[in-house]
Amino acid sequence: MSESTERLPAIPDPNCFLELEDLHKSFGGTPVLSGVNMRVPKGKVTTILGGSGSGKSVMLKHMIGLLRPDSGRVIVEGRDVTKLREREWIEVRKRFGYVFQAAALFDSLTVFENIAYPLREHFDQTKAELAHRVEGCLESVGLAGVGAKMPAELSGGMRKRVGVARAIAMRPQAILYDEPTTGLDPANSRRIGQLIRQLQKELSVTSVVVTHEPELCLAVSDHVVVLERGQLSIDAPVDEFRVSNAPAVREFLGALYAPTAEAAASSDPAEPGEARDPTDRREERHGG
Ligand SMILES: Nc1ncnc2c1ncn2[C@@H]1O[C@H](COP(=O)(O)OP(=O)(O)OP(=O)(O)O)[C@@H](O)[C@H]1O
Ligand SMILES: [Mg+2]
Repeated sequence: MSESTERLPAIPDPNCFLELEDLHKSFGGTPVLSGVNMRVPKGKVTTILGGSGSGKSVMLKHMIGLLRPDSGRVIVEGRDVTKLREREWIEVRKRFGYVFQAAALFDSLTVFENIAYPLREHFDQTKAELAHRVEGCLESVGLAGVGAKMPAELSGGMRKRVGVARAIAMRPQAILYDEPTTGLDPANSRRIGQLIRQLQKELSVTSVVVTHEPELCLAVSDHVVVLERGQLSIDAPVDEFRVSNAPAVREFLGALYAPTAEAAASSDPAEPGEARDPTDRREERHGG
């Protein structure tokens, strides 16, 4: 088969915003992703869970071409973008907002300038249009009027929300959030969660959220995947995930783990390793 960056997937799925197909990535001979298959449904919130260092950020970076896979494909809206050149990726990236793991604001620029900076790079607009757009984004994240402040004058939660405002300023089709609530107090975490849900509802954006926080995961997700040993061990709608008997789910949810009576009755909780669970994909791995 001839290689082409424009090749369509075998079965283009109009409900998918983004797909990762059999993605492999190693660093210095150490594999991080070892055949990741993931579908990100359009207009939904998909959450990626996994231990520290398991490769969640690496996965997100592949989605926007900041990292290139050793093999496998990245498909955005039915288009194979795996082998695009950097110049072509810039166009694809305009469809994405990216909330970095650290808020990653420019400390020497005001909040306004932090948000305006990428807009100036990518769009032609008058000064008034730019100001209107920036103010609108700050309002969306509950920070109307703070544009003149410097990042150092803001709390951690406010800085995170400026990061979100910057991501939505580009009016992206999809927003990738890398641990948007780490280091925030519970009230601020909840606010970020509500914001993710609100943006998904009001702007119909596709969202991918990486988090370590069970509350956030349950509050925002439509779909949950778990990255373990370089592959997705679990890939399930949140309602199935919530009651899953898979050890990784029980461990992650901890006190929030509350299987339904039905789910509890269908397996012996004393032997989690033996429970058969519809969300546990570990036995399917060799299929691809
Ligand atoms: N650019 C890079 N060069 C070399 N190694 C890298 C690079 N990026 C990531 N890695 C390695 O890949 C592995 C996965 O890193 P990644 O940042 O994706 O983890 P993570 O799941 O996001 O962890 P955390 O929850 O702590 O953020 C780590 O071992 C990391 O050191
Ligand atoms: Mg990370």
